[in-house]
Amino acid sequence: MRSTVGWQVEGPSPTLRRTRLERRDLRPDDLAVRVDYCGVCHTDLHAVGARHGEAGSAGRPLVPGHEFTGVVTETGPAVTRFTAGDPVAVGNIVDSCGECAMCRAGQENFCHAFPTLTYDGVDRHDGSTTLGGYSREYVVREAFAYPLPAGLDPAAAAPLLCAGITVWEPLHALGVGKGTRVAVAGLGGLGHLAVKIAVALGADTTVVSRSSDKADNARRLGAHGFVVSTAPEQLADARDSFDVVIDTVSAPHDLGPYLRLVAMDGTLSHLGHLGPVTVETTDLLVGRKHLSSAGSGGRPATTAMLDFCAEHGITADIELLPSARVNEALDRLRRNDVRHRFVLDLSDLD
Ligand SMILES: NC(=O)c1ccc[n+]([C@@H]2O[C@H](COP(=O)([O-])OP(=O)(O)OC[C@H]3O[C@@H](n4cnc5c(N)ncnc54)[C@H](OP(=O)(O)O)[C@@H]3O)[C@@H](O)[C@H]2O)c1
Ligand SMILES: [Zn+2]
Ligand SMILES: [Zn+2]
Repeated sequence: MRSTVGWQVEGPSPTLRRTRLERRDLRPDDLAVRVDYCGVCHTDLHAVGARHGEAGSAGRPLVPGHEFTGVVTETGPAVTRFTAGDPVAVGNIVDSCGECAMCRAGQENFCHAFPTLTYDGVDRHDGSTTLGGYSREYVVREAFAYPLPAGLDPAAAAPLLCAGITVWEPLHALGVGKGTRVAVAGLGGLGHLAVKIAVALGADTTVVSRSSDKADNARRLGAHGFVVSTAPEQLADARDSFDVVIDTVSAPHDLGPYLRLVAMDGTLSHLGHLGPVTVETTDLLVGRKHLSSAGSGGRPATTAMLDFCAEHGITADIELLPSARVNEALDRLRRNDVRHRFVLDLSDLD
């Protein structure tokens, strides 16, 4: 086993502590990655919160982090696409069965045998719990590592690997392009990248936010419109006016107000807080509307998203913190106090 250092949830406390961790020895198709920058996704907060108080989880380690960039430090003998020293990026899935219809179609994120998650997943070979990117080293199959395109700042590019790909796939699949009317609900980590990507695709893009103080930010990101979600008259004015609504709201919420923004035959893509939702069917019936969802992305889409972002100079707007301030970052994310993504600098773990 290899040894590294990371930030782990231990026992019943939601506080992450600096801990020595083990990584597997390299398999033939593995890379060892020195993790330099890791984004703080709201899913990390959900995971820490769920673990806190979850019965029977005491022995299962939780090291969050599933959008990171770094440098390859070592390669297994069967690795062909990377050599030591290459800049590399890793997202929220690190393996899949490789054989099912979804994997064969390049949608490893929908693998019928469930993709291996970057953290709190189960390794397909040794059954161990995967430990995430809030650590100085990660060992990953090369098939699930991506060359980081030149020109992308490695710290600001890290959030592309979860937030970016999660919004890219539905925007792409729903055919968003020049003139498509897109609304993005929730201007957080996912939302601000959805705005940048939609604008770069040529869409007429509007932000729907409960935070009226984010209007200037929205415009700076390229949005053409801004709707305050807590103002009923603004929601009424925007009724039936978007071909695509991308919902990134991180808390359980009523989909009705967002469905009513969708234009006839348009789609609400619900990407945010996952779990049961109730839908008033007349909100779909009136206007023949579609309700959809998505999550993460397959390998071809991830590569295409990185190329697109490199071509258009798209990275996240980040607040970079030394990893020792990870608990502060999670606290502030919980309070919606971030513009628009925290990224941890892991070099303080050396
Ligand atoms: N589908 C997937 O594969 C996938 C991947 C990554 C993340 N996620 C999920 O997507 C969600 C967003 O993640 P993120 O990292 O972008 O989070 P984030 O940075 O915290 O952004 C979430 C945004 O949602 C809005 N919001 C939060 N609480 C709200 C509430 N109670 N009512 C209305 N709006 C609220 C806020 O925007 P405003 O202030 O603008 O209203 C906030 O900025 C999380 O639930 C995360 O777990 C899903
Ligand atoms: Zn994420
Ligand atoms: Zn599969």
